[in-house]
Amino acid sequence: MQFPQLRMRRLRRNETLRRMVRETTLTPSDFMVPLFVREGTGVRNPIGSMPGQFQFSIDEAVKEARDAWGLGVPAVILFGIPDQKDAVGSGAYANDGIVQRAVAALKDAVPDLCVATDVCLCEYTDHGHCGVIEDGDVANDATLELLAREAVSHARAGADLVAPSDMMDGRVAALRDALDGEGFGHIPIMAYAAKFASSFYGPFRDAAESPPKFGDRRSYQMDPANAEEALREVELDIQEGADLVMVKPALPYLDIIRRVKERFGYPTAAYNVSGEYAMVKAMDRLGWGDGRGLMLESLTSIKRAGADLILTYFGVEAARILQG
Ligand code: PBG
Repeated sequence: MQFPQLRMRRLRRNETLRRMVRETTLTPSDFMVPLFVREGTGVRNPIGSMPGQFQFSIDEAVKEARDAWGLGVPAVILFGIPDQKDAVGSGAYANDGIVQRAVAALKDAVPDLCVATDVCLCEYTDHGHCGVIEDGDVANDATLELLAREAVSHARAGADLVAPSDMMDGRVAALRDALDGEGFGHIPIMAYAAKFASSFYGPFRDAAESPPKFGDRRSYQMDPANAEEALREVELDIQEGADLVMVKPALPYLDIIRRVKERFGYPTAAYNVSGEYAMVKAMDRLGWGDGRGLMLESLTSIKRAGADLILTYFGVEAARILQG
C-alpha cells in the first residue's frame, strides 16, 4: 500500500491511539536516584547548578529515599561529601564514613530499597582526582587496593550494589576479588564501563565538591570521540565480572547505549548526568522550553536507545508524573 491509501497519521489522531501503539513506556522502575549525603542533621543544601537537587544530611536523605520508594523507584545511589579530605581519600573507606553511615540508616528505614554506592575516591581526595597521585598522574594499581577497601566497607555497611566510577584498569576484578574474599559474593557490581571525560559533569562537581585541583580526568576517562574503544571497555568489565554495565553520560552517547545493549545483551544502565539535568532546568527557567516535556522526552529516548536502568536526578519528579 502506498499514499494516498497509506497514511501514517491515522494512528496519531488522538492520545488514545498514540498510547495504543507506543513502543517505549517509562515506569518508575526504570530509575535509580543519585543522592548526595553530608554531615549534619536537618540539612538540605540546594545545589545552585542543579535546581531541585540538594546535599542532604543522613536524616534528610532517608526522607528523600522514602519518598522515592513510595513512588515506585526501586533504587538510590549514594555519593558522599566528607568533612575532611586527604591525599589518599581515607574517608572513602572509613567504616564510620558518611556513605557507610548513610547506607545503614537507609537500609534500616527502607529495607527493600536497593541502596547502591558510587565507588570512587574523587569526593574524598584533597586533589580531587579519582585515585592516588604518583609523579603527577593517577597511579592505577595503587588505587585499586583503596577502591577494593571502599567497596568492601560499603558492603559491610549493608549496600546492595556497588558501582565503581573511577575508570582505573582492572577495578572490576579487584572489587570482585575483595568482595568475594570478605563474604560478599552475592553483591552485584555495576561498572561505569564506558565513562567518557565529559563537560556534562560540571554541575556534579559543584554538588559533590569534587573538581580536580590540577589537570583533568582525560588520562583515565574515555575520549568522547571513541565508540569502538567503549565496546572494548564494556567487554573487559564483563570479563572481569561486572553484573551490570553503564554508559555515561547518556544523551550525547545514545549510539553507545544502543551498541552496548545489542552487542552484549547485558543489563545496561545509562547515567543521565548532572549537565543533562541542568540543561533542561535552565531551558525551563529561561522560558525557552517546557521542563516537563524536555524531561520525559530525554528519559524516553535513553530507554528507547536500549537502557534497562536510568540513573537520573529526575527520578522522583518523573515518578510523580508517571504515577499520575
Ligand atoms: C565520580 C563521579 C562523577 C560523576 C559520577 N561519579 C564525576 C566525575 O567523574 O567527574 C558525574 C555524575 C554527574 O555528572 O551527574 N567519579
